[in-house]
Order: sequence, then structure tokens, then C-alpha cells
Amino acid sequence: MDNNRRKFLRRLAIGGGVMATGLPAWANLTGPSDEQMDQSSAIEKQGQGFNMCGYAAPKLQTVRVGIIGLGMRGSDAVERLSYIDGLEITALCDKYPDRVEASQKTLEKMKRPRAKAFSGNEGWKALCESNEVDLVYTATPWSMHTPVCLAAMRNGKHAATEVPAGKTMDELWELVETSEKTKQHCMMLENCCYDFFELLTLNMARQGMLGEIVHAEGAYIHDLTKDWLFNKKAYADMWRLKENIGQNGNLYPTHGLGPIAQCMDINRGDKFEHLVSMSTNDFTMNNLAKELAAKDEFFKEYVDQPFRGNMNTTLIRSNKGKTIMVQHDVSTIRPYSRIHLVSGTKGVAQKWPGPQRVAFGHSWLKPEELKQLEEKYAPPIVKHIGSIAKEVGGHGGMDFIMDWRLIDCLRNGLPLDQDVYDAAAWSSVFPLSQRSVAKKSRTIDIPDFTRGAWQLNKPVDLTLNGGASTGVRNIKPDLKM
Ligand SMILES: NC(=O)c1ccc[n+]([C@@H]2O[C@H](COP(=O)([O-])OP(=O)(O)OC[C@H]3O[C@@H](n4cnc5c(N)ncnc54)[C@H](O)[C@@H]3O)[C@@H](O)[C@H]2O)c1
Repeated sequence: MDNNRRKFLRRLAIGGGVMATGLPAWANLTGPSDEQMDQSSAIEKQGQGFNMCGYAAPKLQTVRVGIIGLGMRGSDAVERLSYIDGLEITALCDKYPDRVEASQKTLEKMKRPRAKAFSGNEGWKALCESNEVDLVYTATPWSMHTPVCLAAMRNGKHAATEVPAGKTMDELWELVETSEKTKQHCMMLENCCYDFFELLTLNMARQGMLGEIVHAEGAYIHDLTKDWLFNKKAYADMWRLKENIGQNGNLYPTHGLGPIAQCMDINRGDKFEHLVSMSTNDFTMNNLAKELAAKDEFFKEYVDQPFRGNMNTTLIRSNKGKTIMVQHDVSTIRPYSRIHLVSGTKGVAQKWPGPQRVAFGHSWLKPEELKQLEEKYAPPIVKHIGSIAKEVGGHGGMDFIMDWRLIDCLRNGLPLDQDVYDAAAWSSVFPLSQRSVAKKSRTIDIPDFTRGAWQLNKPVDLTLNGGASTGVRNIKPDLKM
């Protein structure tokens, strides 16, 4: 490692504040600095160490899973994963021991053995070192995703992380380089890629039904303010409210971006080239902080902080000359939307605002015509596990399809649908949109995390060939998800 890179990493380690629970100093409203962008280009120019796209790791007959972060998302994962055969949950970890105990109860309810328990601020490190784990599954606050994945891979384990995979360019490159070096998978758990209409769109795009894809749109529009971000009983230690301060851009790009990036074969025949990004001011969060602080001292520290602007709109252009619009707004009153629009030379599919629809001309197809398309073009994974997934639940079933597919790939030694390059490219909008916003929407180059391999990488395999051997337990817990 050269001197510059070492210095760069040291600075990041000091500034990163990985486990900070108080409000950090607002040093970075600008996204990556010039120096950090130069470092990113230098790493890109070094070339790929090993291609993890299409990489098949040795088969694991039983996948032993350690789950870190047992809050709202992680505790649901314990239940979902418990339905899958050929899987053991061998380790559970949360900062708070009572959350570990609550998940042990879930294991008991699911007639699974208790797992080894880890807790405290640093318990996750011991879990990553444990000999009883093959896959570390992380549902922690954002700032822990990269450190946990790095520790997992460096200890010879595959890593699966909640979204986004990282928040800085350095973190994302570190994930890429570590996955290539250790030959451990690093999958971002972008569950929206497994939603039913998204999978239908992907298969239709693959079969040429939409023609050449020209433009796509995605989003995360979900008003989280009152009930979630400012709710003392929701996110642990108010971590997600804190993330919305001092960072101004698209902080949650991957739910909208993942499914359309797969339709456009990003990193597998095409790649992101550059983006421009624009944010509004904040019109709601500081007002809410003031309103709450007038009644409750607890919220005083959130008053007059540099909150992220309500709506961020980012435009991305691909190498093949296609465009993507991706939006982020979690603080304006609006119905939920991920947009999911994929527009090609022969047709268009759009999910939000509902109802989901497809057109091959000036008018949308009639509901019965859409139904016929669904029957014809639902990909094999939906036909194989879709109805079971709907029964198990988790965002209508998409979470379970994702979990099942991940475990089935690991058990059968198949490449994963989402590799470390997807995790890095999709997450890179987090830092890069901030840089563009801070520079009056200036164009920002998006690095090629595959370092050239995108030209030959094969598209995501939709066949289930070599897999689909993983069963699902027929246990009905008293409490359904
Ligand atoms: N894909 C999706 O649909 C989806 C949905 C919700 C949340 N998420 C993601 O899941 C992650 C978790 O979100 P959540 O809603 O469950 O938040 P949460 O606050 O409910 O859960 C986070 C958990 O991490 C624990 N934690 C914090 N520091 C820790 C440490 N040092 N060691 C071990 N555990 C620690 C907390 O105690 C808490 O239990 C986030 O990344 C979020 O973006 C994804």
C-alpha cells in the first residue's frame, strides 16, 4: 500500500466515527473531496485483482449464518431465515443483549436451536471471528455495514449487508478490493430486486419485450419523519435521524436503482458513466425538530442542524448512452413510491403510482392482458418460490425470495445475483450525489468498480440452473410476520 493511500485511510478512520452515538461534527456537507476523488481514480486505474462477477464459491452443504443488528429489520430476518432448510443460525449479535434474547425466543418459536450470543459495541468483531459462521448477515445502522463486511471477509466468511453497502468512496473500494482478495462474496441485500413486478420487468427486458432500454426511473419516496425518524422508539439511538443531518444528497439510492440497473445490465454489458444531482432545501425536518423540542428537551439537540434537503433528484448517464433518474425523499408527505419505470424502444413498464402497468403503444395494457404477461414472463424463481414467499412474508414476499436465493446459491456453489460491484456502484450514488449537490449540480464521474470487466461480465442468471435444491420448512409460527 502506498503512502498516500495509507494517509488517506488513516484520515478516514479518524473522521469516520463508525460507532458514534452522539451528533458528529458537521465537517462534511460536500461529499468526497477532490483528494478522495483522485484516490478513487487511482484505485480504479490499478485494474481488477480478480473478477467476483460470476464467481462460484465452494459449495456449502449447510450455511451457518451469524446475524448482526437485531432491530426492526434484523429480527425479521431471523424469522425469515429460520424457514430455510440447509441453514443454521449459529450466532446472533446486537449492541443490546435484550434484543439478542428476543431473537433467541424467535429461534425457539421456529423450533431452531439457540444461537451463540454476542453483544455490546464490539461483539460483532468476535462474531466475525467465530469458527461457527459461514455467512455474516448485517442489519445494522449504515455506518457499520462496511466495517462488518470487511471483518467478515477477512475472517473467511461471506458477507451480506443491508443497504447501502457503504457511505464513502473509500469504503466502497475497500469492499471491492477485499472481496477480490479474499474471494468471499459481498452481497448487498437489495430486496427490491426480488419484488414480483420488478422480476417480471427484468425477465421481459431480458426476453426483448421492451426492446432496447432507453431510460429508467427509480426512487425511494417514503415519508419517514414523524413515525420513524423522530420516533424515540424506532431506530436504535436515533441513528437514522442523525444520518439525515450533515449529508445532503440521495442517502438511500439502492431500492430504486437496483432493479432498473439489473434491467439495464449495469456492470454486465453497460456501466454508469456520470451523474448530476440537485437537492431542494429542507422544508420539514427542522420545523418538526423545533415543534417537538418545544415540548420535549430530548429533541433540542436536533434544532437548527443542517438537515438534508427534502427531495433529491439525480440523473445518471450510462456508457451506452442511456439515462436513469433516481429520487430520494423521506420527509415530505406523499404516498410511497419507488417509481420503477423502465422504458425501451418497444415498450414500457411502470409500477408506481399504481396500478402497475405495461404498454407496447400509446395505451396501457388492460388488466387481463397484463395478467397474461405475468403468467408468461414470471421468471423461474417466482414460479418456484413465489407463492411460499408470499406466505412467509417480508415486504409481500420479496425479502424471502432474496434470502432463499442467497442461501440456495451458496449451497449449490452458484454465483450470486448481486456481487460486490453492484453493491459498490449502486451505493456510490450516496457519496457522489452529495458532491454534485455541493457543487451546484456539477457533473461527477462514477467509477467503474469492475475496472473494465463490465464489458464481458454476463447478465444476472434468471434460470435457476444448477440450483433450486433448497427446501423450505413447513412451520407455521403462532405469530406470522
Ligand atoms: N431492505 C429493506 O427493505 C430495509 C428495511 C428496513 C431497514 N433496512 C436497513 O436495515 C438496517 C437496519 O435498520 P433497522 O430499521 O432494523 O434499524 P434498527 O435501529 O431497528 O436496528 C439496528 C440494530 O443495530 C443494532 N446495533 C447498533 N450498533 C450496534 C453494534 N455496535 N453492534 C451490534 N448491533 C448494533 C441496534 O441496537 C439495533 O438493534 C439499516 O441499514 C436499514 O437501512 C432495510
